[in-house]
Amino acid sequence: MANLGKAVRRAVYPGSFDPPTMGHVDVIARAARLFDELIVAVAVNAEKKPLFSLQERVEMMQECCRSMPNVRVMPLEGLLARFAQEVGACAIVRGLRAVSDFEYEFQMASMNHQLAPAVDTCFLMTHQQYAFLSSSIVKEVARLGGDVSQLVPPNVHRRLQQKFAVPTAGENR
Ligand code: PNS
Repeated sequence: MANLGKAVRRAVYPGSFDPPTMGHVDVIARAARLFDELIVAVAVNAEKKPLFSLQERVEMMQECCRSMPNVRVMPLEGLLARFAQEVGACAIVRGLRAVSDFEYEFQMASMNHQLAPAVDTCFLMTHQQYAFLSSSIVKEVARLGGDVSQLVPPNVHRRLQQKFAVPTAGENR
């Protein structure tokens, strides 16, 4: 077939990913099927005090996306709209869980569209199985010793165990 010179359709999936959850990985896998290339942008987010450093979050995400050849993981410093323009993305992907997500997401999408009119925000409804899931709830449950093994990829589970490692009897802190 003739080469029709089809432009690469690239999208950015931004987030704090502190830590990545099965819900995030599900959105990534689905977005990677919709776009030619997907850049997962791990945000610095100065306003939030993350449990995992930027480097740890990038590493975790890279491990999670290893089996998806058209997915790249990059750190995101500064404005998302500018980043999306700089990498030549036509879309920003966000997962939508419930009605409660909508207001914040609508505000962000509108602002990003104002800043970068050529970049559209594309919402993927989170799989029902993960509709209740958030990084915050995973951290809280893990911190209190609850089982989150089904809610995060195995590499993330290992890192959570390391973060919240409880000293064994007789061990000095
Ligand atoms: O996973 P989160 O915390 O909901 O992701 C929020 C994120 C990182 C997408 C948002 O804070 C963001 O876009 N940060 C980059 C800075 C920016 O562009 N802020 C203005 C957004 S309208």
